Amino acid sequence: MKTSGTMIKVGWPVHFKYERPHSGGVTDIVLAALVFAHVLAAMGWLGGALLTTLAVGPNLRKLTQAASLEFNARVLPSMVNFTQVAAALTILFGLALLGYVYSQDSTYFSSIAGMDASIGIVLALITAAVAFSLTIPSFKKISKLAAKAIEGGQQAPPQEMMALAKRARTGSMIALILLFATLAAMVAAGVS
Ligand code: HEM
Repeated sequence: MKTSGTMIKVGWPVHFKYERPHSGGVTDIVLAALVFAHVLAAMGWLGGALLTTLAVGPNLRKLTQAASLEFNARVLPSMVNFTQVAAALTILFGLALLGYVYSQDSTYFSSIAGMDASIGIVLALITAAVAFSLTIPSFKKISKLAAKAIEGGQQAPPQEMMALAKRARTGSMIALILLFATLAAMVAAGVS
């Protein structure tokens, strides 16, 4: 444990660094629960984005066109929903965590941790804007087109789907890079 100014630092299980005059060093359960929920959701978001962008996407072309249509119609919606829910929960628990941290330490935003977290939050909000306005809608349209093509007895993906796939790929790559930057800023906040 080390002290810096009025902040108290304990390494594990949470960075317990916000002043709580009456806590006497007891683990802050609310803080621990919020960090746990926030980081778990963030793992889901980043995990979903990594898997979709780097593992599944580039390997789809190994499937036959019919199998690729089936995948896009029947599996892709669950992957997109999972990542979407994880992203929403990351933001929700992140805001709850921010509110709690601020309620414990109203000077948070003028601390190094608060400044790092602020950079992370701006990056996270830009990431969410890209994900919810470009990437997720493109993936959803791809799934709908694939389902329609299967219903219509088509074997090959329609031309429109190729253009959407390009948009979705670009969007998910941008979101992934922004997510890494967000993670770096959040971890910097956690360790400062
Ligand atoms: C609007 C969205 C978000 C808000 C409001 C938010 C807020 C916060 C806050 C206040 C902290 C505590 C920082 C500290 O210890 O001083 C934190 C920690 C953390 N955040 Fe976020 N966050 C958001 C998005 C994200 C995203 C997108 C990721 C992942 C890519 C992420 C990953 C983390 C991690 C891993 C920690 C723990 C850092 C550590 O203790 O080492 N957050 N977040």
